[in-house]
Amino acid sequence: MDWAIVIIGGLLVMFCLTQLFFWTSSGIQRQVNERSYWQLQRQLLVAKIQAAETQRQLAQQSLLAAGSEATASTESTTAWRGWRKFRVQKLVRETPTTTSVFLAPQDGLSLPEFKPGQFLTLKFSLPGQSTPQTRCYSLSDGARAGQHYRITVKDIHGKPPAQGGVSHFVNWQWAIGDTIDVKAPSGDFFLDGSSTEPAILLAGGVGITPLMSMIETVLQRGDRRDMLLFYGLRHGGEHIFKERLRELARQHSNINVLNCYSDPESGEVEGRDYHFRGRVSVELIKRALPGPNFHFYMCGPGPFMSSLFEQLIQWGVPEDHIHFEAFGPATVTAVSTRAKSSADEATPAKTVAACQVHFARSKKTVDWTGQDSTLLDTALKNGVSMSSGCRAGQCGSCQTKILRGEVAYPKGQPHEVDAGHCLPCVAVPKANGGNAGEVVLDA
Ligand code: FES
Repeated sequence: MDWAIVIIGGLLVMFCLTQLFFWTSSGIQRQVNERSYWQLQRQLLVAKIQAAETQRQLAQQSLLAAGSEATASTESTTAWRGWRKFRVQKLVRETPTTTSVFLAPQDGLSLPEFKPGQFLTLKFSLPGQSTPQTRCYSLSDGARAGQHYRITVKDIHGKPPAQGGVSHFVNWQWAIGDTIDVKAPSGDFFLDGSSTEPAILLAGGVGITPLMSMIETVLQRGDRRDMLLFYGLRHGGEHIFKERLRELARQHSNINVLNCYSDPESGEVEGRDYHFRGRVSVELIKRALPGPNFHFYMCGPGPFMSSLFEQLIQWGVPEDHIHFEAFGPATVTAVSTRAKSSADEATPAKTVAACQVHFARSKKTVDWTGQDSTLLDTALKNGVSMSSGCRAGQCGSCQTKILRGEVAYPKGQPHEVDAGHCLPCVAVPKANGGNAGEVVLDA
């Protein structure tokens, strides 16, 4: 009996030892497996990072090979000079004749932050036209760095079957995946981001686009800065960003919007669909502000801007508190007349009263009589082909080589113009040592 107990006890001890051995070895094996698993995960992560870096470098090389001078910043965004290829990523119909276009760079790299109010310069190749068309469109979205930019374009020609140029093409023929050459954001019209003072925004029609960018940017940055928008339109059918602006005004106490319809459609009710019947005027602005000492940012059609500019000056708003977008010859002429006169007074006898302008490649010689406001006007009036975009000395599209003579800039020296070149959209001939002489342009 005792022997039986000893044998059974021995068997139990052996069984326990065997179990202990298996548990220990499987635990060790599990640990080994887990370590291998995490090592594999780590290797996978490293491989992914390396692949992403390789992709980034390849994209960077192809961008450079394409002729653009790209420079990667520390924020992994890519600034560029010259043209960069973008593709249409998304199209959003804002009104029956206005479309927002989301543009993403074809290289897949992130885009740098811009200043809210700046614009893009785009080079369009329209079907059936051999010469590309350059146009500038304000960025209409928040200014932070990201994967795309947004512009919003109104078809100034009207819906099909009307025919038209670039804005018509963008609204009715552009499709997702189409590509286009784009210059980096630029322009001197932007919201002063260092200020916390209220900003008064005056928009007319599609002129809302740079001002929308200012509002979105202030909110993106979490600023509590007060923004008061007066938005002038004919009726609700033209009301761009209507729902978005209403939503922002409802959600943020520092965003205030006053919509003025000059010609509301039947069924549109003042106080429900819009705030005031009539145009944006200083009389209306005076009802909302305690005095003229604010900064005003405005963008809209020429008559809208020139009328408000004069009214604000008469009210006593300091001229350097009025900031405006100056696209297109009509707007520039209308609004900058005052600024131009001051600049002309400040630079007496520097421009030439009469001289000859030669356009070398076009083999044309014309008299500069002082009637045209710029050399671009003279060129276009005389059938000389010259590309242009902003017509305000900001996009560089019209840059032309000077073969002989000198030019002056009555409204101030542009920021970026290559040595030996000029920007004819803001340039006029300049006297050379009292000798009117001539200006010869490579155009
Ligand atoms: S057209 Fe833009 S700089 Fe002349």
